[in-house]
Amino acid sequence: MKLDPAFLLHKPQPGSSAHQARPYLQLAGISKRFGQQTVLDALDLTVHKGEFVCLLGPSGCGKTTLLRQIAGLDLPDAGTIQVDARDITLLPPAKRDYGIVFQSYALFPNLNVADNIAYGLRGRREDKHRRVSELLALINLDGIADKFPAQLSGGQQQRVALARALATSPGLLLLDEPLSALDARVREHLRREIRALQQKLGITTIMVTHDQEEALTMADRVVVMNGGRIEQSGSPFDVYREPASRFVASFVGQGNWLPAITRDSSSVQLGEHVLPLSPPHGLETGQTATLFVRPEDIMLHPQWPATPDAVLAEIHKLELLGPVYRISLHVPAWGAVNLQADLTHAQLTQLDVSPQHRVPVSLNLARCRVFSGKDAA
Ligand SMILES: Nc1ncnc2c1ncn2[C@@H]1O[C@H](COP(=O)(O)OP(=O)(O)OP(=O)(O)O)[C@@H](O)[C@H]1O
Ligand SMILES: [Mg+2]
Repeated sequence: MKLDPAFLLHKPQPGSSAHQARPYLQLAGISKRFGQQTVLDALDLTVHKGEFVCLLGPSGCGKTTLLRQIAGLDLPDAGTIQVDARDITLLPPAKRDYGIVFQSYALFPNLNVADNIAYGLRGRREDKHRRVSELLALINLDGIADKFPAQLSGGQQQRVALARALATSPGLLLLDEPLSALDARVREHLRREIRALQQKLGITTIMVTHDQEEALTMADRVVVMNGGRIEQSGSPFDVYREPASRFVASFVGQGNWLPAITRDSSSVQLGEHVLPLSPPHGLETGQTATLFVRPEDIMLHPQWPATPDAVLAEIHKLELLGPVYRISLHVPAWGAVNLQADLTHAQLTQLDVSPQHRVPVSLNLARCRVFSGKDAA
């Protein structure tokens, strides 16, 4: 994943988001089975008023199923759903206050844009007309009211679908992979547009995605799901920087997984090297563990540094990834491991990192995590 480095520099301040700390949607103990398969497993989730929450997880982990319970398109086998402290678990979809956008452009092909947007609106013709104009201006698509869906690009169709979802000014906006059918440029542009619109309207929003970059760049809070459960719920910064589990660490962003052995409660051994890192609670001495470190947390030094943890690495390859360079390294002292480090252009100019060269490397120990067992998730 190519993350915009700016994202990593701005640790959000608590309370800096536009949303209020008032629970709007509360899911408690939501379970859903299809046949023998448990798709949602006693899941709890609270979404605050005005918050933008991304449900992130691999294919089949239950994201769409969860969204469908919130929308009332499916009923949970157990658990309750409350909106503004009112139980809506058994309410039919039409009685719930939300707008929804799906991955595939679910516009009515036989209706023009204006009629598509006005579809759920009640009231006088002139009022509907005014509302449609307002919404077209909101999504920056004035002048296309008379066109039919087939005459629009994918990005335009999704914006119309968004306008239709917002037409009745619902309290909740549900988005199920709304951008995944679009090409990369349009997708990035629409990410920013949707986020700006959501903040402008202050509408509580839940977006499903399996694209980590989308989740990290758009959400106030990322909820990482795996096998019908929530693995971690936190700010994009926390999910990236402090992954709560092996699964989250491997699913979100890039990382190196280095075989290690626990030494005592405050150190682990990596090859012939002992590092002052705490193994997970309860892991005994001499157990197999894995050290997890992100590519940007491996430091290459122009001279031998003062830190006792530095070792020599051999440079294998250098690739430009856009905002950063990715350096492939081989480190004999850490158990002959291969790993990948990311350097900015400014960092790179201070070093001589041509292939076959040797440089001192060390780890940003504050950013390393030790998990029990071998390998990634
Ligand atoms: N109506 C259904 N009947 C039987 N099984 C279902 C039904 N709906 C979903 N499932 C199963 O539940 C699991 C979760 O599906 P779901 O659509 O929620 O996944 P998802 O996280 O949205 O995945 P994706 O990223 O691929 O959209 C899958 O194994 C799926 O096959
Ligand atoms: Mg889905």
